[in-house]
Amino acid sequence: MKCLEMFNLQDRVGYITGAGRGIGKVLAKNIAAAGAIVAVADIDKATADRTCAEIIAEGDRAIAVHADVTDEISCADMITRITDQYDRLDFGINNAGGGNELPALDMSKEDFMRVIELNIAGVFLPSKAAASYMKDHGGGTIVNTASMSASIVNVPQTISAYNTSKAGCRHLTKSCAVEWAQYGIRVNSVSPGYMMTELTQRISHMHPLWLPMIPQGRIGDPADLVGAFVYLISDASAYATGTDIIVDGGYTCI
Ligand SMILES: NC(=O)c1ccc[n+]([C@@H]2O[C@H](COP(=O)([O-])OP(=O)(O)OC[C@H]3O[C@@H](n4cnc5c(N)ncnc54)[C@H](O)[C@@H]3O)[C@@H](O)[C@H]2O)c1
Repeated sequence: MKCLEMFNLQDRVGYITGAGRGIGKVLAKNIAAAGAIVAVADIDKATADRTCAEIIAEGDRAIAVHADVTDEISCADMITRITDQYDRLDFGINNAGGGNELPALDMSKEDFMRVIELNIAGVFLPSKAAASYMKDHGGGTIVNTASMSASIVNVPQTISAYNTSKAGCRHLTKSCAVEWAQYGIRVNSVSPGYMMTELTQRISHMHPLWLPMIPQGRIGDPADLVGAFVYLISDASAYATGTDIIVDGGYTCI
């Protein structure tokens, strides 16, 4: 296979959760532009519809799917919707996620569990639904959006539930990679550093505090993540499973 052919995504079919906005939206647009058919999945169907319309307006291919990643039936329905229409599923990107900013001493069990449910069960459930199909259809590749917070504790914000959930996401990635390698299913993750999205814009007062801690001296653009995801959903990463690519401007080096 020629070098760049390994990255070819032409006619590959897959879903991206949380693709109505933010990182997921940028991934959906770029991966569709690379020739793939992308199911834009989000709990907020209106944003999924908008992302999908933008992709189609560019002459690329997408469908919008309502999916709640914390709901097992909703995740199974998402996979059925895609495979009924296209009769294949090559990749899945479990990107939907979020957190809260609460000091650990003030956090209720409910607040803690909401983040754990979204960022761990919200990766497990679509992964399970996708792998159930891929297992009987020649395999596939799953990529989870973890975070640099899986391996460091961000300061000064107090986000212990988020940090814990992303560490769980990393280990879930490795566990599924080991269990599903026998079916030709690869499972990897990408760990972004600070990226400019609605999530981080909500706490823009933190940005001046973060910048001195980022060796590259800037907050990332979601487009900075596209290469890592394309590598992991393409054949270029055929021998990579259970691994994580940190894309953080050098934050976790210091
Ligand atoms: N922005 C960052 O700096 C950053 C850094 C590291 C990791 N991440 C991770 O990247 C991912 C995307 O982050 P973002 O900044 O684009 O977030 P965002 O808040 O801008 O977008 C998240 C998307 O997920 C959707 N969503 C939320 N709950 C859902 C559910 N239950 N089911 C389906 N969809 C749901 C939302 O509707 C939204 O469209 C998250 O997993 C986040 O933890 C973000």
